[in-house]
Amino acid sequence: MNYEHGFHAGNPGDVLKHAALVLILRELTRRQDPIHYLETHAGGGLYGLEKADGEWTQGIGRLLSKNARRKLPDLVPYLDLVAEEGKAPAVYPGSPLIAQALLRDTDRLELYELKPSAKAQLETAIEPKKDRRVRLFERDGYAGLISTSVAEGAHLMALIDPPFEASEEWDDIEACVKRTAVKRPGATLVLWYPVKEGAPHEGRPERLRRALEAARVRGVSVELSSRGGMILSKSKHAKVRGVLLGSGLLFVGAPHRAVAKLAAALPELGRSMARAEDGTAFDVSWKGWG
Ligand SMILES: C[S@@+](CC[C@H](N)C(=O)[O-])C[C@H]1O[C@@H](n2cnc3c(N)ncnc32)[C@H](O)[C@@H]1O
Repeated sequence: MNYEHGFHAGNPGDVLKHAALVLILRELTRRQDPIHYLETHAGGGLYGLEKADGEWTQGIGRLLSKNARRKLPDLVPYLDLVAEEGKAPAVYPGSPLIAQALLRDTDRLELYELKPSAKAQLETAIEPKKDRRVRLFERDGYAGLISTSVAEGAHLMALIDPPFEASEEWDDIEACVKRTAVKRPGATLVLWYPVKEGAPHEGRPERLRRALEAARVRGVSVELSSRGGMILSKSKHAKVRGVLLGSGLLFVGAPHRAVAKLAAALPELGRSMARAEDGTAFDVSWKGWG
């Protein structure tokens, strides 16, 4: 377990994932049902952005201007949560802190983080002793999601955001997502995945989509991929290599309005993070099934 999300915090993959998370939670919190929010891979919660050339400069660092907010009105709630307009952020919040900020008193957060140092970091950031909605576990998140117990009338919303360090990660994802979607119809599931060439990644999102379709689970996925190369991981530890072309999200049971807003924003989001000087440009592709 060498993965350090700090290397990647605020990069284009985080921007896509966290922008979608904010859109979905804002829709779900308009409904009356309490939300049971679960993260299988919670991470450290808050990341310092002290490296002037960190991956964040390719992501959130490109969205700080008033112009970006004007062009991306549906993403302003996300931008307001993660960075002050015009200022280079000193820290970037991870998904548990974003959810903690948006969820209501009646909602619950169940967070799994297997790495002791990341769990300790998350504990400091999210302060579960002061927030009775939060439960934090140093356990495997896939097992946590499969066995979670959701109060009657509550809506399960799960974010599955694995590190993709191990070559069998996709097998665990496929089993967990399929089992949860079948066992809990109506739940909202969001999976983040890297778009990479070659084994063990290539073809696996499509295989998962087909497995869900065969199980009569409907959903939609989106990929934000770069043309011209980029998103170079600065992590020395990445074990499962392959050229990172971008990132994807797979949604089951996501509110239509959140997905529609994301679809409307993504072409402009891609343009806002693109730079001619380093050859970055983004393509957006959607696939629906069921
Ligand atoms: C991509 S990071 C999570 C980032 C976080 N979701 C965010 O957006 O801010 C993945 C995290 O999963 C943790 N992890 C790896 N395997 C795990 C497992 N089986 N169960 C729970 N956590 C795990 C890693 O230690 C790492 O902190």
